[in-house]
Amino acid sequence: MSTQGATTADAFERRLTPSPRTEAERAALVAEPTFGVVFTDHMARMTWTVTDGWGARRLEPYGPLQLDPASAVLHYGQEIFEGLKAYRHADGSVWTFRPWANAARFAASARRLALPELSVEDFLGSIEALVDVDAAWVPGAEETSLYLRPFMFASEAFLGVRPARTVEYLLIASPVGPYFSGGVQPVSIWVAEDYHRAGPGGTGAAKCGGNYAASLLPQQEAYQRGCEQVCFLDAATGTLLEELGGMNVMVVRRDGSVVTPALSGTILEGVTRDSVLTLLREGGHEVVERDLPLGEVLEGLRTGEVTEVFACGTAAVVTPIGRLAGEGFDLQVNGGKTGTVTTAVRHQLTAIQYGRAADPHGWMHRLA
Ligand code: COI
Repeated sequence: MSTQGATTADAFERRLTPSPRTEAERAALVAEPTFGVVFTDHMARMTWTVTDGWGARRLEPYGPLQLDPASAVLHYGQEIFEGLKAYRHADGSVWTFRPWANAARFAASARRLALPELSVEDFLGSIEALVDVDAAWVPGAEETSLYLRPFMFASEAFLGVRPARTVEYLLIASPVGPYFSGGVQPVSIWVAEDYHRAGPGGTGAAKCGGNYAASLLPQQEAYQRGCEQVCFLDAATGTLLEELGGMNVMVVRRDGSVVTPALSGTILEGVTRDSVLTLLREGGHEVVERDLPLGEVLEGLRTGEVTEVFACGTAAVVTPIGRLAGEGFDLQVNGGKTGTVTTAVRHQLTAIQYGRAADPHGWMHRLA
């Protein structure tokens, strides 16, 4: 799924707010953005019915939704979402990164959750339309961006368990800084052994709210143990690294090779994951996607065979992991410091995203 051609951006009716935040209010809100707390003046919206398909493309003032208490999403969780970012370049222009990949994943998630697919033209059209009216909300400071959150949910008021016949699509946007409150610093990971994120044949590869809901209790227990994130093991054997609560994981070995769990159907096909693997391969690193036993990583940390571990995702970008803990082990990674491979690939990726480096893959798409 890819289009460099026309999108439906112009079809979004502009029902703009009569009271947008003033420039001074916006500047204060954007100054040091915490992840996902502040939202722009508008949201993009579309409605789907089983009879008419997708329609009613519109931009509306950002605000609360009116929802029937019987809406299916509130009972059965029929919902999916995406995450991507808009970046301000030095010349003031605004760009996004591989939106076609997010559109394709959104469609795949929709299929798995029995929701209607949204075309790439509408996915990208909603982003172009919203960023057009709210472009001033894209921050310009280092490590900041406008986080775009497209999502879709079952809005039909009906308590029977079947796919909903009415569905809402919305896109909201939030000026953000680093995902972790400590900034771009090594984070600690707790490996959960009692809980799994997804099982074979489940929804692990879909970006649906339920996967994240299931990660919250183990995530809470990770916090209680002094860790910022939880790492899940596979449900089938309980021995293989899968992914973190909201990001993929990669391990760097002494010889410079990088190992990451293969896309088995139970982990998310991260856009950042794929981009990082491409950059590493091009940089001469051997990249191996395969089963990654926890035991191998722990042994490697003890012997020095594993030199770095990092997390990657749209929100996390590339985040170093400085500590890996779980029942019966608590190990530092690279002395708790950010490693050179992690630093280099993060730098390379963000240089493309922020327009400081060439974009040989055609990953960037101009929005404003
Ligand atoms: C993202 O990286 O965009 C996500 O959706 C994950 C979440 C932890 C914010």
